[in-house]
Amino acid sequence: MRLLIVGGSWFVGREIVSAAISRGYDVTVFNRGRSGRPPVGATFVQGDWEDRWDVARLAGHGPWDVVVDVAGSIPAVVRNVARSLAPVTGRYVFISTISAYRDWPYAPVDESSPLWDSTPDHDPGTRRWDPDAYGPLKVGCELAIRREFGDDVLVIRPHVILGPHEYVGRLAWWLRRIDRGGRVLAPAPPDRGFQPVDVRDVASFTLDQVGQGSNGVYNVAAPIGRDTYGALLAACKEVTGGAAEIVWVDEQWLLRQGVVEWTELPLWRALPNAWAMDAGRAQAEGLRCRPLEVTVRDTWAWLSNGGRPVDHERFAEHGIAPAREAGLLAEWDRVTPRAAAS
Ligand SMILES: NC(=O)c1ccc[n+]([C@@H]2O[C@H](COP(=O)([O-])OP(=O)(O)OC[C@H]3O[C@@H](n4cnc5c(N)ncnc54)[C@H](OP(=O)(O)O)[C@@H]3O)[C@@H](O)[C@H]2O)c1
Repeated sequence: MRLLIVGGSWFVGREIVSAAISRGYDVTVFNRGRSGRPPVGATFVQGDWEDRWDVARLAGHGPWDVVVDVAGSIPAVVRNVARSLAPVTGRYVFISTISAYRDWPYAPVDESSPLWDSTPDHDPGTRRWDPDAYGPLKVGCELAIRREFGDDVLVIRPHVILGPHEYVGRLAWWLRRIDRGGRVLAPAPPDRGFQPVDVRDVASFTLDQVGQGSNGVYNVAAPIGRDTYGALLAACKEVTGGAAEIVWVDEQWLLRQGVVEWTELPLWRALPNAWAMDAGRAQAEGLRCRPLEVTVRDTWAWLSNGGRPVDHERFAEHGIAPAREAGLLAEWDRVTPRAAAS
């Protein structure tokens, strides 16, 4: 198997690269080299996917059986990459996202759910992170790839991905916060369903599908109803060994105080369908999701051993300021005196 990985050094791609090398694949990695060189065993082609000459030079290193485009997010750029690689590559695998679904997080989604409207030639003219543009842009990338590769396309649409090297910083924030101890503001109810997927399981499933030559679209998430937000925070408490007290606070009250879902309290979404992605198709094809506690434990082990993700603009978005958290907890105690006293 000759595999080209476009990206491959931050988080999901990094895991795909090392898992592919472990499987004995002949791996080529293409990125700018800003985040380090690929591990021993991979061929490195340094270049920028925004630069047509770099992309043309990359094609000269082919042929490949499969390209895995891990992090493409601008349709016009992905189109150029796909067009250059089509003559020298058999199939195109694209890591997309749950955000491609127009109805997420307002309704449950499966692979037949409607996607955002988008076009394969679009370029927004900016590379700044924009959560509202993200989903439609990824759909545009999928369209561009299909135009160049027809049916020889595999699309993976993961829900939230956690694990070592996660640079968005969601689980890392909770681990550090709970490790710091004291009273920790948490959005009730603790039995809210939750279905993040471990980065290693995303990589493993993707490579299994690559190996089987499968096409089509797969949602990738932990089984609905298996995990809860309460279990996440309990696991964080367990692995950090801290004396934190988790204080569950009514989420509607938090919303009225202006607490920002998803970022200020990472991974919290008050909408009931935020964690309702049907990944049954992938599960039937062999997706195995390790226990949430293992993801939490391994991420903490990585952080505790000096693990540091790549710098990313999204990292700073996450977490609540200590003074604001303390103020909210004091106000919650005031408005719910009996709960506070118990
Ligand atoms: N995180 C989540 O919870 C989540 C959920 C659902 C879906 N996803 C999807 O999962 C994927 C996550 O990808 P990742 O960032 O972890 O992938 P990655 O492949 O590990 O990292 C991104 C790669 O892109 C390279 N790169 C960035 N700009 C480049 C450019 N202009 N030219 C060439 N290479 C460039 C980076 O290296 P250099 O900087 O050295 O160039 C790096 O190797 C994304 O597609 C995302 O949409 C994520």
